[in-house]
This record gives sequence, C-alpha cells and structure tokens, in this order.
Amino acid sequence: MTAIAISGVRRRFGAVEAVAGVSLDIADGEFFTLLGPSGCGKTTLLRMVAGFCELDAGAIHFGARRIDSLPPHKRNTGMVFQNYAIFPNLRVAGNVAYGLKARGVSRAKIAARVERALSLVHLDGYGERWPHQLSGGQLQRVAIARALVIEPEVLLLDEPLSNLDAKLRVEMRGEIRELQRKLGITALYVTHDQEEALAISDRIAVMRAGRLEQVGAPAETYRRPATPFVAEFMGTTNLLSGRVVGAAEGWLRVAVGAAEFRLAAAGAAEGESLAFSLRPEWLRPLAPGADPPPGWARLEGRLETVEFLGALTRLQMRLDAGTALRLAALELPEGWGEANARVAVAYDPARITAFRGERAG
Ligand SMILES: Nc1ncnc2c1ncn2[C@@H]1O[C@H](COP(=O)(O)OP(=O)(O)OP(=O)(O)O)[C@@H](O)[C@H]1O
Ligand SMILES: [Mg+2]
Repeated sequence: MTAIAISGVRRRFGAVEAVAGVSLDIADGEFFTLLGPSGCGKTTLLRMVAGFCELDAGAIHFGARRIDSLPPHKRNTGMVFQNYAIFPNLRVAGNVAYGLKARGVSRAKIAARVERALSLVHLDGYGERWPHQLSGGQLQRVAIARALVIEPEVLLLDEPLSNLDAKLRVEMRGEIRELQRKLGITALYVTHDQEEALAISDRIAVMRAGRLEQVGAPAETYRRPATPFVAEFMGTTNLLSGRVVGAAEGWLRVAVGAAEFRLAAAGAAEGESLAFSLRPEWLRPLAPGADPPPGWARLEGRLETVEFLGALTRLQMRLDAGTALRLAALELPEGWGEANARVAVAYDPARITAFRGERAG
C-alpha cells in the first residue's frame, strides 16, 4: 500500500538528458503507465524508482519514506524486466525463490511462498521444470511470480510483454491487470505500445525526450491530447494546420488551404494560425444526399483508398480543396465502396482538439 512521489527527477548520460526533470504523483494501488517512443527515458525513470540508476537531482518517496538513496533490496519493489532475466541454470522454483533467499527467509517459508506465487500466475505444479521447457508466455509468468513473491509495495514492469506474439500479449496484459487489482498493489508499467497503455492503465504519462508531455486517464489523453505529439502518438489522427478566418454558429471558422473547418479554440483570434487534431473515427461517412446530424459540419471530396480490415474499414478521402483526410468506419453507407467515388463526411466540431501556437508536422 504505497503512493509514489517523484519530484524534479533528472538524469544525464554524457550529452544525453535521459530524464530532464520529471515530477509525478502516483496513487496507492494505481496502475500507472509510462508511454513514449524509444529513447524517451522510460526505462531510466523506472530504474531510478527501482534503485538501479542514480539520480542527478530530485527525490523519490514511497509514502512518507524517501527512498532514492536506498539500495534496491531496501526499497521493497518487485521488478519485471523486458528480457525476463530468468536464470537458465535454476529450476522455476529456484528462480522464483531467488529474492526470498537473498532476504534470508527460512526454507520452510520459501516453499510455501513460491507455491503461492506460482499459483497466482497460473503455474501451479511448474516448480520443478527448467526454464528451457517453458513457452515465452510461461517464462513471463515466472518473471512476474519472482517479482511478486517478495510481496513488494510497488511492482515495476519494463515492457514485460514485448517478446510475446500479439495474441498472447493481449491475454497477458489482462492477466497482469487482474493480478494487480487482486493484490491492490501500486504498479508502474513501461510500454511504447499506445493500445496496451490505453487498455491496462488507470493513468498514463506520455513521455518525450526525457519530459512528460501529458498525464491523464486513458480516455482523456486520447480524446483531449495536450500537444500535437500526444495526438499523433496516441493512435491515428488527422493533424492539420490552418488560420482562423471568422466565426459561425458558436464555432471558429478555420481555413486549411481552400477547405474550411469548424472548431473551438479558447481565446484564439481572427488571423491566428493553429494546429488541430481530428480522429479518423470522428468523421462520419454520409450516404448520398444525406444531411449531417444537427450542429455538425460537412466536408466533400473524392474517395482515394479503401482498406477493409475486418471489424473496421480505413479510408482516405481528398477534399475538393486538396487536403487529404483519414477516416475509419465500422460500416459504410451505399456508394462508399469504390475508390474515386464522390463522398461527403460530417463531424462534430466539439470533437476537434486545437493547439494554439502550433503547426502540424
Ligand atoms: N547507461 C547508459 N549510458 C548511456 N546512455 C544511456 C544509458 N541508459 C540510457 N541511456 C540513454 O538515455 C536515453 C533514454 O534511454 P531509456 O533506456 O531510458 O529509453 P526508453 O524510453 O526506455 O527507450 P526504449 O523504448 O527503447 O526502451 C537514450 O538516449 C539512451 O541512449
Ligand atoms: Mg526501455
């Protein structure tokens, strides 16, 4: 039962500022995810919490206790590494028991706790197996059991699913989340996979070049990205730039080339340039002759590509004014099958997120 407070934490490697001043409060029992592209400092920050990397500046507290100068084994964290780090020369039980032996727990207690940890990850009866006799998913479970067996206050996971195939990844992320809920343990999870982050987290911190771009609940980071970088990193979007040319029906009118969009941008003045994000699934394909829903805006153009993906169809259209737009739809109205067809789409201006003082890509 532990809240984590990270305050003003920095770490530099030579010329690289791996973590460039990060402050974060993670609640007791929260499942918190660090998300960002390769090299943005996720592992470095996680290793500082675990005690495998020193801080240049700042402090880390678990509850009221300052822990950033304690050695790793005094911090009471369990860590799952990206590459499992399973010892090949120890049986499964020996691997799981490792942290308990290091802490001087008695033999009799070790056996019972190892059994319980294996049971938690659905590996009952696997204690006598050798690592090479296990699948990738089973090895990952051993790594999780080894982290949990010491009954840590905080569970740290660094891309724990990246070596697994897509289907197993989805299954295992559900298991990790279920286990974390059941134990009520605070979890700090690292991934560069935005879908995984959305699916598993209470809150997400999107990182870029050693800094936090946005911290928020999954739906918030997806629907209301704080920056163009977050808008593009959290899935697919249409990131456009334009100029405010006036107002109509409570919305700003924004010219993008010769096309016009409607949106809200608090405080933006006529003549101002801004960028904005409109998700592909927020553009609704209209049947020929159909009107947009009340209050929505309408755009016309030609269909360029249609990609049927099973549950979803991804499309690209080119507005008459020349701008390309990406669309995603569960179902398509008639006339939307062929490339080059004339089409119209509608969107709710309230869905658009504007970024004042920014330009797209
Ligand atoms: N021990 C080290 N020595 C020198 N540079 C390092 C060291 N560890 C990390 N870095 C650098 O710090 C930056 C952040 O690295 P880090 O491993 O934290 O990124 P990451 O977000 O975990 O990336 P990935 O998604 O690829 O794992 C990178 O530029 C990396 O090269
Ligand atoms: Mg990493």
